[in-house]
Amino acid sequence: MIEVKDLCKRYDGRTVLDGISACFAPGEVVALVGPSGSGKSTLLRCLNGLEPFDAGSIRVGDDVLAPGVQRARGAQVSNIRRRVGFVFQQWHLFAHRTALGNVIEAPRYVRGLDAKAATELGRALLEKVGLSHREGAYPSELSGGEQQRVAIARALAMEPEALLLDEPTSALDPERVGELVELLSRLREDGLTLVAVTHEMRFARELASRMLVLHGGRILEEGPPAQVLERPRHERTRAFLGLERAVRQEPAVEPEPGRTGVSAVFPAATARE
Ligand SMILES: Nc1ncnc2c1ncn2[C@@H]1O[C@H](COP(=O)(O)OP(=O)(O)OP(=O)(O)O)[C@@H](O)[C@H]1O
Ligand SMILES: [Mg+2]
Repeated sequence: MIEVKDLCKRYDGRTVLDGISACFAPGEVVALVGPSGSGKSTLLRCLNGLEPFDAGSIRVGDDVLAPGVQRARGAQVSNIRRRVGFVFQQWHLFAHRTALGNVIEAPRYVRGLDAKAATELGRALLEKVGLSHREGAYPSELSGGEQQRVAIARALAMEPEALLLDEPTSALDPERVGELVELLSRLREDGLTLVAVTHEMRFARELASRMLVLHGGRILEEGPPAQVLERPRHERTRAFLGLERAVRQEPAVEPEPGRTGVSAVFPAATARE
């Protein structure tokens, strides 16, 4: 369980997270959406200690992150990072290591497993993400979707309770997005908490149990994706969802029978194409 209380974050005196409170339960999949600059990536980075913050707290089980500079929070930050994995938008794989080499790095040198145990774990994780046949390939020899799955396996190698993903669909074609939904659904069944920043509403709708809409560093709205997408309570959410469509410059289509509201006009919307 991740519990965020009154989280505030400023850059150069400018508030970018303004009193965020939220809970992320085991097995829950939360889609974090909102306009560009609303603070989504910053929130995600704070959640696993990549970014210090100015006020509030983040609790993961019995580990608590307090405000302040990174140095003063050393032990707590490393505990939280073990419990909360992060999959970066650009994956950041080690270019000079194979797929298997990338996955076993942390078990070997952070968790202290011996080579045999780390390799066994690495192979099991590559199998889980469907990449057993590519264990000897280097990142440059892997497709974007494959590199992403290596990055997910690498994050899982720390046996985290939660996985944070920043725009995991941004570099994937629609077929790969479907595969990612399948993979993440399987991880959810294992009880992992998943928090994904996304601009792709189809992804959010298919995967998430809850959607948080961030605006100006605050949670503007939250609820099941179908509710937020079809019956947004706030004018700003409506404007944001409408804006997504405008960015794509897609004409609005007629809502499907039995459906109303904005969701019907962007069944596979993504603002980042
Ligand atoms: N290192 C930094 N220094 C100063 N300002 C920053 C820094 N990182 C982010 N910001 C600012 O904080 C605000 C929130 O940024 P953030 O990256 O969290 O937005 P986002 O919601 O992820 O946007 P996007 O959808 O474009 O990725 C923005 O105004 C951004 O310019
Ligand atoms: Mg971002």
